[in-house]
Amino acid sequence: MAPLQSLADVRDYVRRSAQRLDPESRYIAELFELIEQARDVGDLERMMLANGRGLRHTGEEVFAAMNLEEKLLANLITPETSLFRFSEGELEAIGRHLVPTLSGQRARVLIVPCSHGEEAFTIAAHFLKLSVDFEIDAFDVQPALIEEAKLGRLTFGYPLEYLENPGRVSARVLERIRFKVGDAFELPLPEPSAGGSFHVVLCRNFIGYFTPEVAEALVTGLAARVRPGGILLLDGFALSKMPSLLLTLNALGAVQLRGRPAFHFPT
Ligand SMILES: C[S@@+](CC[C@H](N)C(=O)[O-])C[C@H]1O[C@@H](n2cnc3c(N)ncnc32)[C@H](O)[C@@H]1O
Repeated sequence: MAPLQSLADVRDYVRRSAQRLDPESRYIAELFELIEQARDVGDLERMMLANGRGLRHTGEEVFAAMNLEEKLLANLITPETSLFRFSEGELEAIGRHLVPTLSGQRARVLIVPCSHGEEAFTIAAHFLKLSVDFEIDAFDVQPALIEEAKLGRLTFGYPLEYLENPGRVSARVLERIRFKVGDAFELPLPEPSAGGSFHVVLCRNFIGYFTPEVAEALVTGLAARVRPGGILLLDGFALSKMPSLLLTLNALGAVQLRGRPAFHFPT
C-alpha cells in the first residue's frame, strides 16, 4: 500500500479500516477529531506520539516502531492487555473441562489476538503450574507488538526509562510460544482438518470492537478450530454486547460453562 501522504489519505484509510468496526465506537470518533486538529500528516504523527490511546496501550518504544497505518490501527483497536486478565473462571474451565480429557496429549493452544504477549505468558504459566504439556500459537496483526512479545519483556506499560529492571519471562515460558504476525480473519494456519485445530482457542477483548455480522463470522471461524473436547474462551463484554453469539455457538454444539465466557465442545 502507498504511504499515506495527506490528511485526506489518512481519513480514507481510517474510514476503510473502520468499515468492519462498531460504528458507535468512540475510538473512531476520537481519532477523526484528532485528525481534524492536525495541520498535516507530520503534525498528526507528532500528536499521536505526544499522547493518545494508541500510545498509552502500546507503550512508547513499541509505538515509535510502528508506521503511520499501524499507529492509526492502534488507536482504533488498542493493544490494551495485562497479565492474569481472567476474572470469570476461564482458567478454572481449562483445569476442570480440558485437562482431564488430555490423557497425556500435548495441549495445543491458539491465542488471537495476543498484543504484547501477556495473555500467552499467563496461559503458559497456568499450564506449567498444572504440569500439563502444551504449546501456544499466538497471533497479532501488528508486527511491532509481535517483536515485543518475542522478547518476553514485562513492562506493564510503565515507561522503560523509569524501570530499574524490566521483568522478563523465563526461557521455559518463551520456548512454549510461537508468536507470529497474523490477521485474525485470515490466520496463516492450515485448515482445521489439516492440523489447524486446537484444544484451547482464546479470542478475548477483540470481538466487541466489530459489527455483529463481522463478530459472528469471526467466532464461527474460530469455533471451527476447536477440537472435540476443547474449549473456546471469549470475553464477557463481547457476549453481553452481542448475545446472538451465544445462539451461534449453541448451534455449533458448544456448551457454555456456568454463564462464563467459556465454551466446551463435547466429543
Ligand atoms: C485489546 S487487545 C486484546 C489482547 C488480548 N487478547 C487481551 O485480551 O489481553 C486487541 C489486539 O487486537 C489486535 N488486532 C487488531 N486487528 C487485528 C486483526 N485483524 N487480527 C489480529 N489482531 C488484530 C491489536 O493489535 C491489539 O493488540
